[in-house]
Amino acid sequence: MKTYRIAVIPGDGIGPEVIAEGVKVLNRAAELDASFRFDFVTFPWGCEYYAKHGKMMDDDGMEKLRSFDAIYLGAVGYPGVPDHISLWGLLLRIRKEFDQYVNIRPIQLLDGAPCPLKDASKADIDMLVIRENSEGEYAGAGDWLFKGKPEEVVLQTGVFSRKGTERIIRYAYETARRLNKSLTSVSKGNALNYSMVFWDQVFEEIGREYPDVKTYSYLVDAAAMFMIKQPQRFEVVVTSNLFGDILTDLGAAIAGGLGLAAGANVNPERTHPSMFEPIHGSAPDIAGRGIANPLAAVWSASQLLDFLGQERWGKAVLQAVEQVMVERAALTPDMGGTASTSEVGDRVVSALAASS
Ligand code: NAI
Ligand code: MG
Repeated sequence: MKTYRIAVIPGDGIGPEVIAEGVKVLNRAAELDASFRFDFVTFPWGCEYYAKHGKMMDDDGMEKLRSFDAIYLGAVGYPGVPDHISLWGLLLRIRKEFDQYVNIRPIQLLDGAPCPLKDASKADIDMLVIRENSEGEYAGAGDWLFKGKPEEVVLQTGVFSRKGTERIIRYAYETARRLNKSLTSVSKGNALNYSMVFWDQVFEEIGREYPDVKTYSYLVDAAAMFMIKQPQRFEVVVTSNLFGDILTDLGAAIAGGLGLAAGANVNPERTHPSMFEPIHGSAPDIAGRGIANPLAAVWSASQLLDFLGQERWGKAVLQAVEQVMVERAALTPDMGGTASTSEVGDRVVSALAASS
């Protein structure tokens, strides 16, 4: 029997609440399938840890994580610790040091999910956004000159390396080819006259190796509009770090809200562990009350199963989520229900058992 070793970082706020449900679901899948099991090791890192130890993770934290098959993370950040410290000290550190340069965010309207677009159907909202996750606008490069003086100048530099740009675009072409879908690049070459002109050029260059993949190229502002007005235009989408961040929140909004949105941080070469997380934050406003929606965390558990090669179970988990939303017997308040976080998790577990 195969054992998958998973590092669990529940993190802050509602992180531990939703991750507990994802772990329940993963264990259930493993129970139902005799060929694999999970070995979870939990790490108590986050803002509480920071309050006690003055750091977001152990000094040898990265070493500790290295040997795992994957990382399952809740959310990081809490009032009392500045967000740039919590984010850079844990989440971004892991993304960068483990070279998780692909961020995969499914934007898919499941049956039963709330959708603010009046005429959109399930077939209309079904895209996979592939966001550059290691450089670009979030490279952390820049300067702050003459602080506080009248001549103060702040520079935030976008970093687009050939290697970094080629590898994300190539990954997107490979994905589009595998799924037999079109590929849309989102950029802004008219205004960002270096970085995005380069991006567009690389998109075209790499595209020559994939003549079978149908491509589109949109400016980011137009893409934002089309995602609302004609979401069916998009299948596989590739974009930069900043644009991907914004567009996937927009995507989350049209596909059921933050309580449903999942994201995978992937190191495709598998030389380092990849990390799976709901895209929402620690939601301090509802933390500790047992009302957080665990479905985003469960969806990321489904992505984790896919990544481990257990696609059958990844699919079954997503179907279970869909069934729970259609039945409406157990949903959290953000989705109009009155159930607790763990009641929703239990419901997914029984739906999973029934569907398999
Ligand atoms: P947030 O995602 O935590 O919350 C935004 C709103 O959505 C809140 O009203 C919250 O109650 C609601 N919400 C979020 N997830 C929910 C869920 N599963 N079920 C029901 N309602 C949910 O974003 P916010 O408030 O901007 O950030 C709070 C903290 O989280 C900050 O410290 C921020 O830095 C951190 N954060 C961490 C992220 C991560 O770990 N990946 C991502 C985003 C924010
Ligand atoms: Mg975001």
